[in-house]
Amino acid sequence: MFTQIGGKPESDFSDPLGLLSDCHQRIRYFLNVLVSVCAQAAEKQLTPDQRTVLEKALWYFREAGPRHTEDEEKSLFPVLRAKNIPRVRRALEKIEKLEVDHRQAEADHDDVDAIGRRWLSDGALSQEDFRQMRILLANLTRLYKRHLVMEEAEIFALADGVLSRNEKDLVGREMAARRGILRR
Ligand SMILES: [Fe+2]
Ligand SMILES: [Fe+2]
Repeated sequence: MFTQIGGKPESDFSDPLGLLSDCHQRIRYFLNVLVSVCAQAAEKQLTPDQRTVLEKALWYFREAGPRHTEDEEKSLFPVLRAKNIPRVRRALEKIEKLEVDHRQAEADHDDVDAIGRRWLSDGALSQEDFRQMRILLANLTRLYKRHLVMEEAEIFALADGVLSRNEKDLVGREMAARRGILRR
């Protein structure tokens, strides 16, 4: 799903690095949604509006978030690694660290999803689930704050400088195919 957050026009598959940055905006947006629903609803019953935004945010991290991780790990990072030039070799350790972050974020999102589904089915969170949700969201907020900036400022910027037009097109085509979109 490529919903537009804010007024800035979306990038398309001919600009895969722009698209990856757009995805970061959605990650920030939907994480903020979860944090604010958690703060507003706490252990009280969810209002209909809170239920709607919670469902959307959980859906985003369950369905769209993993595709963004695949865009990076299966499309962008392999093309970068294959360059084998000094600028890229110096960044390899950072790329490995980003992949470690992905595993941590996936584990935290799985737990957020399980608690969020209980929240939707029961209408309210138990004290223990509420406490755990706050810890998970604080961890994810801290992780993404560092992770997204490192990708944008270092890895996407590096990719923009070292990848050829053809290599960027390959990344874009793979991202489109991952979403069932044919691109000529
Ligand atoms: Fe990432
Ligand atoms: Fe990313």
